[in-house]
Amino acid sequence: MHLIETRELTYTYPGNVTALHNLNFVAPRNARIAVIGSNGAGKSTLFKCFNGIFKPSSGSVLIRGEPITKENIREVRKFVGIVFQNADDQIFSPTVEQDVAFGPTNLRLDEETIHHRVHEALRLVGIEELAHRVPHHLSGGEKKRVAIAGVIAMEPEVLVLDEPTAGLDPQGVSDLISFINSLSKKFGMTVIFSTHDVSLVAEVADYVYVMNKGCFVAEGTVEEIFLQPDLLRSVRLDVPVLPKLLSSLQKKGVPVPMAYTFEDAERALVETYSTKKDLA
Ligand SMILES: Nc1ncnc2c1ncn2[C@@H]1O[C@H](COP(=O)(O)OP(=O)(O)O)[C@@H](O)[C@H]1O
Ligand SMILES: [Mg+2]
Repeated sequence: MHLIETRELTYTYPGNVTALHNLNFVAPRNARIAVIGSNGAGKSTLFKCFNGIFKPSSGSVLIRGEPITKENIREVRKFVGIVFQNADDQIFSPTVEQDVAFGPTNLRLDEETIHHRVHEALRLVGIEELAHRVPHHLSGGEKKRVAIAGVIAMEPEVLVLDEPTAGLDPQGVSDLISFINSLSKKFGMTVIFSTHDVSLVAEVADYVYVMNKGCFVAEGTVEEIFLQPDLLRSVRLDVPVLPKLLSSLQKKGVPVPMAYTFEDAERALVETYSTKKDLA
């Protein structure tokens, strides 16, 4: 059974704008899934269907095999934690600590458990020292971390991040990448994120859905997706610079290996060229 599955999911906004067309999506346990697409592709709309904010106009959304109902919606929202694109929409308490405690308090946990969860979440996202600050006075990147901590404190099994790197500086992006990967490795959390920044995808995802105008136009592993540069360009995306460079070198007859992440490229190039040197 998949943690999240959509079957022929269609969603039409009031005013007759159909933003999602017959989407079939699955999130197996412990997967790291990227949904990539340019602005207006439908990523945020799709994510809002994952925890019942939007109800399908037709088709279905299944959480652990069950449709979302009035009866199970609280359970679903405990299970699927969503961090929205705009952190300001998600932060409203007078201090960071209170803000992160909001979700666990609503779960009616005892005070000691709430305190423990809040501080664990702040520690995980690396903002313990901000606990007593006023959220609205923080920088964009700090607010984003507060929003993530608030969702993590609910201990969801699936973490959904809508454009998590938007507005972050380069260090913020690289911290976020390590953070997402550690959630998946250490806690077995399933992570789904959206982005139009293709350079991020290979570092974080095992599986990719490519979205355009409310449809999935391709899905597959990172390798399968980035071997289709024409398709990506046709939906206003690009191939990340690393595979683009390696593939261009290959076309020019330079015998370089293909790789998608910095570490893989470095390892493969060292292997290729240090062996050649040894032979020479
Ligand atoms: N509240 C709304 N009412 C009507 N149309 C909307 C609304 N929100 C988004 N849309 C439309 O739905 C489509 C998908 O939007 P969205 O899910 O926000 O895309 P993305 O997150 O990929 O940028 C766009 O065409 C957008 O204009
Ligand atoms: Mg969006």
